[in-house]
Amino acid sequence: DKGGWPSFMAKEVSEEPEAVAKTVLGRVKDGGIVIPELDGLDELFQGIDRVIVLACGTAYYAGLVGKYAIEQWARIPVDVELAHEFRYRDPIVGSTTLVVSISQSGETMDTLMAVKEAARLGAKTLSICNTQGATIPRESDAIVYTHAGPEVAVASTKAFVAQITALYLLALHVGRVRGALAPSVAEESIDELEALPAKIQWVLDNEQERIEQLSHWMGDTRSVLFLGRHVGYPIALEGALKLKELSYIHAEGFAAGELKHGPIALIEPGQPVFVMVPSPRGSATLHAKVVSNIEEIRARGARVIAVAEEGDAAVLPFADEVLRVPLASPLFEPLIAVVPLHIFAMGLATAKGLDVDQPRNLAKSVTVE
Ligand code: F6R
Repeated sequence: DKGGWPSFMAKEVSEEPEAVAKTVLGRVKDGGIVIPELDGLDELFQGIDRVIVLACGTAYYAGLVGKYAIEQWARIPVDVELAHEFRYRDPIVGSTTLVVSISQSGETMDTLMAVKEAARLGAKTLSICNTQGATIPRESDAIVYTHAGPEVAVASTKAFVAQITALYLLALHVGRVRGALAPSVAEESIDELEALPAKIQWVLDNEQERIEQLSHWMGDTRSVLFLGRHVGYPIALEGALKLKELSYIHAEGFAAGELKHGPIALIEPGQPVFVMVPSPRGSATLHAKVVSNIEEIRARGARVIAVAEEGDAAVLPFADEVLRVPLASPLFEPLIAVVPLHIFAMGLATAKGLDVDQPRNLAKSVTVE
C-alpha cells in the first residue's frame, strides 16, 4: 500500500527519518548503547583484530560509511569489500576476523556466498539485515536488525540510512566493550543519533520541493557527476548509483581529491556536478579543499550543485545551487546529506516519465550470483 504516495519509493524516502528512529529505538539505555541481540558476545568483540564488511550495491556504500565510525570509535581496522569480489581471491581471514555483512533483503546470493566462505575460513560473522529470519542472518553467528520496515521499491533508500545507523550502533557498542571509546564521545554520538530523524525530516520539509524542481529542469541531462570526500565520498557513490539505476543516465561518483588525477578531464561547460561539502566545523582543511575543488570545476564551466550545511557561506560564490542540510557532527552528515540525492534521483526519473519503483532490468532481491 503506497499510503497515498505516488510511488513506493516516495513513501519510503518519506520514511527515512522513521527508519533511523526505529533502528535506534530500544537500543539506548541509561545513556549507553544496549543491543540485546549481542549479549554474551563481549569476548568475541574483544578478541578480534580486524573487521571485514561485505555487501553489494547500496549496502556496500553503507559499509564504506560504517568503516569511518568503526575505526574511529572501536579502533579496529576495517576493510569494506564487494561480496562478489571477496570470494574469488583467496581472502586472508581467520578466527580473529569479524565479518560484518550488510543486506536489506538478507537473500542476496553474492553476499550469502561470501558470508559462507568467511565462516568456512573460520571468521566470526555478524549480519546487519532488514528482513527478519532471512537466509543471511540465519547463516551468521550474530544479527543486528535494521528496523526500516519493508522496502518495496527496487532502489534502496530508507534501508540505507538504517544500515548506517545499525553500523554506528555496532561501532559504539564494540568501542565500549573494547574500552576504546571515551564516555564523552559515546554520549555526544548517542545525542547525534537521536537528533538525526528530525534533521532528515527538516530536509524533507524544507528542501524537497526545490530539489524536485531542480530535477525537473534537468530532465534532459545526459550525465551527472558526484564528488565527495571522507564520509561524503560513499554518499557521492550512492547518489550516482541511484541516479543511473532510476533515470538511466550516466552518473559517476568520485572522491573529490581524485579529480586532478583524471576525472577533471570530464568537466566541460554545463556539466552538472553535485558536490557534498563537509562541514567547516568538522575539519576546516577538508572543507577548504572541497571548496577549492568547486572553484576548479566551476572555472571549467561545471554547473555546481552543492549539498552544504546551513549557514556555510563559503560555497555561495561558486555554486549554482545550494541544497541545505542541518548541522551535524561530521560522521553524522552522510545520513542527512544522502536524502537530497535520493529525492533528486527520484525526481529526475519521474520527470522522464519512468517507473521509479521498478527500474528496467533490476530485481529487488538478487538471488543469483
Ligand atoms: C540500489 C540497490 C541495490 C542493493 C543491492 C544489495 O538501490 O537497491 O544496489 O542495495 O542489490 O541488496 P541487499 O541489501 O538486499 O543485499
